Amino acid sequence: MEECLIKDFPKHIGEEVVIKGWVFNRRSSGKVSFLLVRDGSGICQVIAEREILGEEVYPEIKKVPIESSVIVRGTVKEEFRSPGGYELHAARIEIVQKSEEFPIGKKEHGPDFLLSQRHLWLRSSRQIAIMRVRDALVRHVRDYFHKNGFTLIDTPIITTTCGEDTSSLFSLEYFDLGKAFLSQTGQLYLEAAIFGLGKVFCLGPTFRAERSKTRRHLTEFWMLEAEMAFFDHDQNLALQEDFVSYIVQNTIAEREQELAFLERDLAPLKKVVPPFNRISYDEALEILKKHGSDIEWGTDLGGDDETIITGLYDKPIFIENYPRKVKAFYMKQHPEKPEYVRCADLLAPEGYGEIIGGSQREDSYDLLVKALKDNNLNPESYAWYLDLRKYGSVPHAGFGLGIERTLSWICGLKHVRETIPFPRMIYRAYP
Ligand code: 4AD
Ligand code: MG
Repeated sequence: MEECLIKDFPKHIGEEVVIKGWVFNRRSSGKVSFLLVRDGSGICQVIAEREILGEEVYPEIKKVPIESSVIVRGTVKEEFRSPGGYELHAARIEIVQKSEEFPIGKKEHGPDFLLSQRHLWLRSSRQIAIMRVRDALVRHVRDYFHKNGFTLIDTPIITTTCGEDTSSLFSLEYFDLGKAFLSQTGQLYLEAAIFGLGKVFCLGPTFRAERSKTRRHLTEFWMLEAEMAFFDHDQNLALQEDFVSYIVQNTIAEREQELAFLERDLAPLKKVVPPFNRISYDEALEILKKHGSDIEWGTDLGGDDETIITGLYDKPIFIENYPRKVKAFYMKQHPEKPEYVRCADLLAPEGYGEIIGGSQREDSYDLLVKALKDNNLNPESYAWYLDLRKYGSVPHAGFGLGIERTLSWICGLKHVRETIPFPRMIYRAYP
């Protein structure tokens, strides 16, 4: 008797197999019950007949509660009307554990209830589909860098140097050394690694203590970051275009079925190929003012501003050259316009907004010290980072892509909270 995954049924037509899984749905009558069983690889319909299972067993099967765990032995038959195209005619069904009444039913539940039941909600077909797209996306992200000569560098989660904005740091007491922080970015450490390895990347959890409740914010999210020696701003953007196109095209090709289940229209995603649109921060401001925004020069684009701009283009769009005071200390001063930095945010179309933040880095020791001071950061705490500008400093650039925001765009979801198995948000750290 062969134990078999539901996804492999096409290889076992007419054979007797054993599957192990959970009852996802059930329709029963006196003589026959139809159980939908999920095993982690797929879903199949199990035909359970009184005549075959016997008078003793059948009554239990007939009322087996949803989400009970079961082991089924039966024969695989082709049946085009059945979900997946096959069904299993049961010879024997063992109930491993009879489930209590499952709290998530067919009726509509509010997001707060579902988030409190996240450990159970993850079993729903929609969440399974999203997790499978996430799995494919992360794999293609890693593959891209390995195919393009990058080396993985795992950067620390506990740090003592702030990489972004001091107002969004989670801090912790670190033994006798005082305050340490949860990492907001691996970038500064990647910068150290380029001197030995040239092109490097990291992919890990990142933390932001932002009191933000928008559909784009998590307090813990996963970020892909890449850093390249001898790369300037334009080379950085060219790489990002190529990378984003690669991960989108490969993910949608691999997960067509799941995206169809999520009712994602793939037409706009198929257009995600180089070159992407590019406008400057100043041009973005003009566009926004024409569309009624009251944004002022020297402030960052808000979520609503991003929605307006991305609604105007059918491909991702780079917004380049922000005023220096909007952005982090490490960005390279613009060679002709010292009030600006050589950076770009990449906004995803269809209203999704920023998925990448990147820049060429300040490679001059003196300008970097000045930038730290201008941002009220103490250069002494950044001694190791400043060393990188003393020992063979080179032009270099890099970027960070948010996995959850990218996945939310690819899946066509309204909120990032469904893109991560256990979301952490300002009012949610359970389960
Ligand atoms: O723009 P950010 O803050 O850039 C950095 O951290 C740089 N150090 C990256 C680099 O150059 N190596 O963040 C990068 C991306 C954003 O574009 C967004 O996709 C995601 O990380 N992100 C968030 N995702 C979910 N929730 C949040 N609170 C996020 N903050 C940033
Ligand atoms: Mg950003």
